[in-house]
Amino acid sequence: MHKDLEKVLLTKEEIAARVHEMGQRITADYAGKSILLCCILKGAVTFFADLAREIDVPVEFDFMVCSSYGDSTDSSGFVKIRKDLDADIAGKDVLIIEDIIDTGTTLSRLKPILADRDAASVKIATMLNKPSRRRAKVTVDYNGFEIPDAFVVGYGLDYAGKYRNLPCIGILKESVYKG
Ligand code: IMP
Ligand code: MG
Repeated sequence: MHKDLEKVLLTKEEIAARVHEMGQRITADYAGKSILLCCILKGAVTFFADLAREIDVPVEFDFMVCSSYGDSTDSSGFVKIRKDLDADIAGKDVLIIEDIIDTGTTLSRLKPILADRDAASVKIATMLNKPSRRRAKVTVDYNGFEIPDAFVVGYGLDYAGKYRNLPCIGILKESVYKG
C-alpha cells in the first residue's frame, strides 16, 4: 500500500469487476444505439478508458474539463467549463463519465447545460458516489460504488495533482492535507 494511504477502500480487482458489470448494463440499455461518451477530465480518465472497453455498442469519445476544486479537499461550490466538448451533441445519446459525485455541484450544473444543446438523452455514469455529502440534487444512472465521507485518491482521483496513477482507490491520510 502507498505510504500516504490510510486504508485501501477498493482493490484493483474489485474495481475491474464492477466496471465490467457496469459495461454490461450500459450495453444492454443502449442496444441498437450509439453513445457519445463524455469524459470529465482529468479524474475520470482511468474509469472512462476501462469502462469504454466494456461497452459493446458503437461509441464516440469526447472530453470536457470542469473545475470546482483547486487544490483543496472541499468544493468551492461553483463550476467553470475550462474546455468544452468538441462535438455537436444535438440528437445524440450522451453519457457523462465522472470519477466521483461528492456535493453534486459539478453535475447538477453540467447536466442541464448539455441537455439544453438538444441531446437525445443525457445520462450519468460515476465510479464513486458520496451520497452523505450531497448538496445539489443529481440523478445518477450508473453508479460504481457508494463510499463513506472520506477523501479518496487513486484510479484517476487526485489530491493536488498526485496519486492519480494508483491502481486501487484508497483513503488519503489526513496528515497529508492537514499537516
Ligand atoms: P462535486 O461537484 O462536489 O460533486 O465534486 C465533484 C468533483 O470533486 C470530482 O469530480 C472530483 O474531482 C472532486 N472530488 C470530490 N471528492 C473527492 C475525493 O474524495 N477525492 C478526490 N477528488 C474528489
Ligand atoms: Mg473531477
